[in-house]
Amino acid sequence: MSNRTSLQKRLGIALTFGVTLLWLLGVTASGLVAQHEMNEVFDSALQETAQRVLPLAVTGILNREIGARNETAPALEEHDEHLTYVVRDRQGKILLQSHDADPDVFATLPRKGFSNTSTHRIYGASAVSDTIYIEVAEPLAHRREAALEAGLALLMPLLFLIPVSLLGVWWVVRLSLRRVVEFQQSIESRGAGDLSPVEGGRLPAEFEPVAVAVNRLLERLLRALETERSFTANSAHELRTPLATALAKVQRLKTEVHSDPLRTRVGEIEEALRSLAGLSGKLLELAKAEGGGAISQDQHNLVPILTMVVGDFEGEAPGRINLTLPGREANSFLDPDAFAILARNLIENAVKYGSPDQPVEVSLTADGALRVRNGGNLIPPDQLALLRNRFVRATTHGPGSGLGLAIADAIAEGAGMTLVLRSPATGCGDGFEAEIYLV
Ligand SMILES: Nc1ncnc2c1ncn2[C@@H]1O[C@H](COP(=O)(O)OP(=O)(O)OP(=O)(O)O)[C@@H](O)[C@H]1O
Ligand SMILES: [Mg+2]
Repeated sequence: MSNRTSLQKRLGIALTFGVTLLWLLGVTASGLVAQHEMNEVFDSALQETAQRVLPLAVTGILNREIGARNETAPALEEHDEHLTYVVRDRQGKILLQSHDADPDVFATLPRKGFSNTSTHRIYGASAVSDTIYIEVAEPLAHRREAALEAGLALLMPLLFLIPVSLLGVWWVVRLSLRRVVEFQQSIESRGAGDLSPVEGGRLPAEFEPVAVAVNRLLERLLRALETERSFTANSAHELRTPLATALAKVQRLKTEVHSDPLRTRVGEIEEALRSLAGLSGKLLELAKAEGGGAISQDQHNLVPILTMVVGDFEGEAPGRINLTLPGREANSFLDPDAFAILARNLIENAVKYGSPDQPVEVSLTADGALRVRNGGNLIPPDQLALLRNRFVRATTHGPGSGLGLAIADAIAEGAGMTLVLRSPATGCGDGFEAEIYLV
């Protein structure tokens, strides 16, 4: 896989981040509204308390003996007070206070209405022609705590929302992209030679045009390759008969000519026609190799085919080829004809380019490894890398068109196998080795 960011990851993070941000904005807005409403409710409670307590306090104070001291309202049972109050006269002298009330919280002189200190919210009311004042105080910390708790309660779902959103987005994106991933894998897994249309019928609508475009391109490519292949095959085929006829005629002419110089020239023409026939034969093999069909439906034993191909070279290089075969069958799905062409080209090269005083080693193992080795000069790595290209030759002397290894490579590629070329041969200081696993 490449190091590009995955769509799934990017969408997962972006959507989760977006949802979280929106949620935070929502929480802030609702928190502010809730705080405003709570303040109204708390203020109303403060006012209500003051107005309820004041008549009772006034009655109690007026019924007291004149000159009695400030009194603290008794608590029926032990409790914390959120609301504390003091009842004072106009000069600020305390007449009555709730049991937890701290007189320092209030201003020196009583005041009516709502006011704030740094720590408390206070509401004051008066009675008896503004001679008796009540002031009820509520700690601001109490309100802050209430607002904080409400805010936290709203934030709490985020703890679940973030992982759930990440998982949900990841899952939905994965589900939606499943067909696209399958499409990508089907393109990735096909061999370079497979030009059959890709399956894009179940892709999401946005991706369908890609599949259509890919198929159109594959179709054009297939058509172009087929045209090229059939042109090569047809021309090679068409050349065969006239070349064979010309060769036969030239050979007959050679026997009829009695002058030596003329016979030499006719011999040269014969040689040229022979190499032309060889080239047309190789072109036909290349067209077949590139046309695919290197794999057959059933397995075939390669041992007798290799024995036959090596036998064909006996006349040309008697006793030079050392053939090593497995004791049992070596079966492969490689098409027998394709295998014969492949082996013939590799052995032909070994016989042609190997040093004549060294044997050509041809071996086939039971696990299907074919190795063809010969002695000879080293081929530099940069040249070796190019040999499987068409019309490329390292040795330019001697007849040859530079197509043999291209044919072998096309057959190997068509069958999904790899042809390995080495120089020097394994375990030697020089020479050449071709190896292919035919399973
Ligand atoms: N066994 C080998 N030993 C040394 N050199 C080799 C061997 N096989 C191939 N080569 C080099 O690789 C070149 C390309 O080989 P290839 O079989 O493709 O073409 P060719 O033999 O020149 O022509 P053709 O096979 O078409 O008649 C050869 O010209 C030769 O230089
Ligand atoms: Mg060759």
